[in-house]
Amino acid sequence: MADLSIEVNGMKFPNPFVLGSGPPGTNGRVINRSFELGWGGIVCKTISLDNSKVHNTVPRYARLKSRTDQAVIGFQNIELISDRSFDTWLEELEDCKQKHPDKMLIASVMEEYNKDAWCEIIERTQATGIDGFELNFSCPHGLPERKMGMAMGENPDIVEEVTSWVMSVAKKPVWAKMTPNVGDITVPAKAAIKGGADGISAINTILCVLGVDINTGRPMPTVEGYTVPGGYSGQAVRPIALRQVMELSRGLPGVPISGMGGAETWEDAVQFMMMGSSTVQICTGAMLQGYAMIKGLCEGLSKFLDEKGYKSLDEIVGKSVPYFSTHADLVERQRAAGIAKAGLANRDEMWKGDIAKETEMLTND
Ligand SMILES: Cc1cc2nc3c(=O)[nH]c(=O)nc-3n(C[C@H](O)[C@H](O)[C@H](O)COP(=O)(O)O)c2cc1C
Repeated sequence: MADLSIEVNGMKFPNPFVLGSGPPGTNGRVINRSFELGWGGIVCKTISLDNSKVHNTVPRYARLKSRTDQAVIGFQNIELISDRSFDTWLEELEDCKQKHPDKMLIASVMEEYNKDAWCEIIERTQATGIDGFELNFSCPHGLPERKMGMAMGENPDIVEEVTSWVMSVAKKPVWAKMTPNVGDITVPAKAAIKGGADGISAINTILCVLGVDINTGRPMPTVEGYTVPGGYSGQAVRPIALRQVMELSRGLPGVPISGMGGAETWEDAVQFMMMGSSTVQICTGAMLQGYAMIKGLCEGLSKFLDEKGYKSLDEIVGKSVPYFSTHADLVERQRAAGIAKAGLANRDEMWKGDIAKETEMLTND
């Protein structure tokens, strides 16, 4: 079996598959079970100092299904961060780390805009022995009402300031998790790096309205007849996530990225790695398929590396990034290819038939 290990910011992942923050890391029991199944790392459900302020609704999930086979292709949640107590979390994180010293346990944390609170959560959490932190600057629903999550993450000055508070006490590597609900994801990501973060995680969920019940006129998920826009995830978001990871790779060369958003298979993970992710997080995919999916992910990736002759994952991280260009450059490349292939000076002569054919395909009745 090929070597699937990868080292990121000094953290040694036995494989690059990491359960993303959310239901998959909701308590110590599932975390221990998932490590036993073979996950290389786990980011726990986001924790805060005071769980008494966290109140979830029912329902808090909604699903977009394929018109053909009813498979879930998109997932919306309006779930908040963990509603379990901080003290319970500290005990469970310590227990998980003791039972699985060779797996990477990353604590996802979030606090209000208050230096003392951020320093306290970092200092007390790192005392459990966890391997690293993920700063949740990106939850798009519920928490922004308390000026947390995405409310911080969309403001680069606050991202830099809060990250620098964290770095003043952190003794473990710190990743800052970015929201895709901004014009240019590299702006807050650069601010986090300026504040001292060691790496970037992306993407958190995309703000969405999953749908409307046309019989009642009520939007979903419907809570006592009402709703709020929630966070979209699952395979439907993968093309958006891949693009955001690519932008981060290009905008912040050399900064480790933990990519996620709709990854469900080892092939998806390879795509994230080729866009520049060193590790790939999976949240919705594991919720839908079960945590035992890790076996197939490792087997598939290992076979792929062997067949292609890659000696380590570092050889595929970022492999596709140099192939992004500008539209003008693509046109110029086709002109040059036309000349090379057919000795044509005018590219339109070479390609106009193909362009017309593509248009025709979409305009036929
Ligand atoms: C039900 C649910 C709860 C989530 N809770 C958190 C959370 O507490 N903290 C966090 O940083 N991200 C949270 N996320 C976001 C995921 O970690 C991930 O960024 C996003 O869902 C995209 O990846 P995916 O398509 O693999 O799920 C949650 C996602 C879902 C679906």
